[in-house]
Amino acid sequence: MKLWGGRFTKATDKTAEAFNASIQYDCRMYGEDICGSIAHASMLAKQGIITTADKETIIAGLKAIYKEIEAGDFAFSIALEDIHMNVEQRLTEAVGEAGKRLHTGRSRNDQVALDTHLYVRREIAAVAKLLIALQQAIIDAAEKYGDVIMPGYTHLQRAQPILFSHHLLAYFSMLSRDFCHLEYVWKLADIMPLGAGALAGTTYPLDQQYVADLLHFTTIYDNSLDAVSDRDYILAFLEFAANLMMHLSRLSEEFILWSSSEFKFIELDDAHCTGSSIMPQKKNPDICELVRGKTGRFYGHLMGLLTVMKGIPMAYDKDMQEDKEGLFDAVDNLKFALAIYADMIGAMKVNKERMRSVLEEDFSNATDMADYLVKKGLPFREAHAVVGKTVRYCIESGKVLQELSLEEFKAFSPVITADIHHFLSIDICVEQRKTYNGTAPSSVRRQLAAAGTTVAAELTVQERWQSVADSLYELAD
Ligand code: ARG
Repeated sequence: MKLWGGRFTKATDKTAEAFNASIQYDCRMYGEDICGSIAHASMLAKQGIITTADKETIIAGLKAIYKEIEAGDFAFSIALEDIHMNVEQRLTEAVGEAGKRLHTGRSRNDQVALDTHLYVRREIAAVAKLLIALQQAIIDAAEKYGDVIMPGYTHLQRAQPILFSHHLLAYFSMLSRDFCHLEYVWKLADIMPLGAGALAGTTYPLDQQYVADLLHFTTIYDNSLDAVSDRDYILAFLEFAANLMMHLSRLSEEFILWSSSEFKFIELDDAHCTGSSIMPQKKNPDICELVRGKTGRFYGHLMGLLTVMKGIPMAYDKDMQEDKEGLFDAVDNLKFALAIYADMIGAMKVNKERMRSVLEEDFSNATDMADYLVKKGLPFREAHAVVGKTVRYCIESGKVLQELSLEEFKAFSPVITADIHHFLSIDICVEQRKTYNGTAPSSVRRQLAAAGTTVAAELTVQERWQSVADSLYELAD
């Protein structure tokens, strides 16, 4: 018998029942559902809405169900639709009458909202931990390869020499913004919806603040209709995840290019590559390709939920059940991607000599020659033209700038003196870019120190989130 079956004379069509159910995926929120119910029952008793004896029976029953599910001894039922009714039905089966009083002053609408808020908070803490670990892996690699110089690119054409660590730290900066984004997601998830009932609030004298305190929520929804129909915190998580995956996808693209025979800048560890079933020589960067490829589904989940939400009238509509699968899939894949990338960056090998030789045989120091001429008194535009002609001469004669003799240089500009070769050397080109966020070793050292400070601050935030998330399950202990 359905928990809501009183009004009905007919059983649900089996196909409709299967289509309607969400238990196949919302079963992962059992901890949130049970602990949320424990908080609710405690409040009901405190307010004299149920007896203390009933509260104790309910809580003991819920704790037993928690253990059953943890042990894999719980049979989830499609007929019972979702995690809320599966738990409630089992409770009533196990403890009788008292179980039937649990849902007093509550609707599945505010219940599912509560569970999902708790779930998102838990996963924010978990994802933050992995995100920080990846940032730390980037810092470690930037330190390890501190003196490696690589060609920097624009338009995927060799542009100017840069420190490899500087390049890596660009990704650190991107991930720091993702962390800021996550703090915003937390803010939206950290609002307590229970007490909204179906949509209008309830007739019982609930103490919502008490529930919020038990569950460590900072605030309570101001409006009950909004409480049951807000999915902005899920959208914010999906926006965060889509943006982070876009960053990881860019890094993937670089790793794929760099590990090709054409580039040979890095070698990914065997542990993160796969072979070909036909070509014995192949070592494929599948993980990078998958991270790049999976980015598509993150955008899909975000677009999917935005589209679900755009046309639904107040307050709760069943459309909103569609919020979960995309969220869960995003959480799972994001955790995979973050964990693997931290390991991969730690394990990859960097081919310093190859990067250097690419630089030696090209014109990445052309801007430096122009800057040299400017420092000798030429206007920049003129200097640009002089270097352009010099580069053309080099191409025609099969040379690079630093191979030209002083006489050859002087034919292009009389201001050039013997120190030109010094200023064209790759190390000096890098060392000269001492601007605040530039590639000079002194600047990158400062960026590294700042990155360390950022990680320390993020860790403090993550620890706070983690303790809030973990404290929930103490209710079921
Ligand atoms: N499984 C539902 C969901 O995920 C729970 C809320 C159902 N509420 C309702 N009135 N049918 O959205």
